[in-house]
Amino acid sequence: MADRVVAIINQKGGVGKTTTSTNLTHALAKAGKKVTVIDLDPQGHLAVSFGVINPNRPGLDEIMLGDADITKMLVPVRENLQLIVAGPRLQQIEQLSDGGAKRGDLLRKALHENLNDQDFVFIDCPPSSGVLVANALFAADEILIPMTSDFLALQGLSHMMGTIKRFEKVLNKKYKLSLVMSRYVTTRRISKEVLSKMLKYFPNQVLFTVIRETALLAECPSFGKTILEYRPGSRSARDFRSLAKDFLEGKVM
Ligand SMILES: Nc1ncnc2c1ncn2[C@@H]1O[C@H](COP(=O)(O)OP(=O)(O)OP(=O)(O)O)[C@@H](O)[C@H]1O
Ligand SMILES: [Mg+2]
Repeated sequence: MADRVVAIINQKGGVGKTTTSTNLTHALAKAGKKVTVIDLDPQGHLAVSFGVINPNRPGLDEIMLGDADITKMLVPVRENLQLIVAGPRLQQIEQLSDGGAKRGDLLRKALHENLNDQDFVFIDCPPSSGVLVANALFAADEILIPMTSDFLALQGLSHMMGTIKRFEKVLNKKYKLSLVMSRYVTTRRISKEVLSKMLKYFPNQVLFTVIRETALLAECPSFGKTILEYRPGSRSARDFRSLAKDFLEGKVM
């Protein structure tokens, strides 16, 4: 197993899970860490974001549904960084009908005793709270929640914290939890209001760097490039380099 297995989770859609998965992992890899990133979302956006040719190839689906060997499904995407794509059959896992706990344990089992040379495994979760996300919660020991600064996102967070608490009870473990403000619009009053609520509810858990909303970050996926390649000198690239540092050093607000 890798040193740290981190699930990037938020059941709300479009909050920046995949953008964080892409750019944070690349920033960590550039800082010399060995990183594997897993696409647990049947939408398969992670492969596209990294510019993988033939993003619909088999991947995690065959690891979880068949008996494909995880080590044979690793796609090298950048130096120090490898990807496991979602695969066309991944959606079927949400429909599996056999035994509860067994269905949730597929990913953890696949990771067990594998990827031992990796510093990090990151899991990019889909915007749901079904069997796939349960697999991430079984497998991970850390959770990173990207959060947008709007009122409804804040509402959704309390629901998700309930889910996380339930898993902690059932699995008898305690996650290391961090949050990152993503898509942050500095000029909006609501941004500051949500941020101050987050700091109240999650003291010492909100990462120091805020990822600002910028056109560049929205553009990169269409070029199959991370922000560190697309515009390495931009403030968005700086945001992600700085977030990677926070993540490594545990620097919080
Ligand atoms: N900081 C940002 N600035 C500008 N655009 C952003 C930023 N973060 C994400 N986006 C854009 O917002 C959209 C949603 O982001 P992303 O795909 O990362 O969210 P997600 O949480 O993974 O979504 P889903 O729940 O569908 O998996 C994408 O088009 C992405 O390019
Ligand atoms: Mg996503």
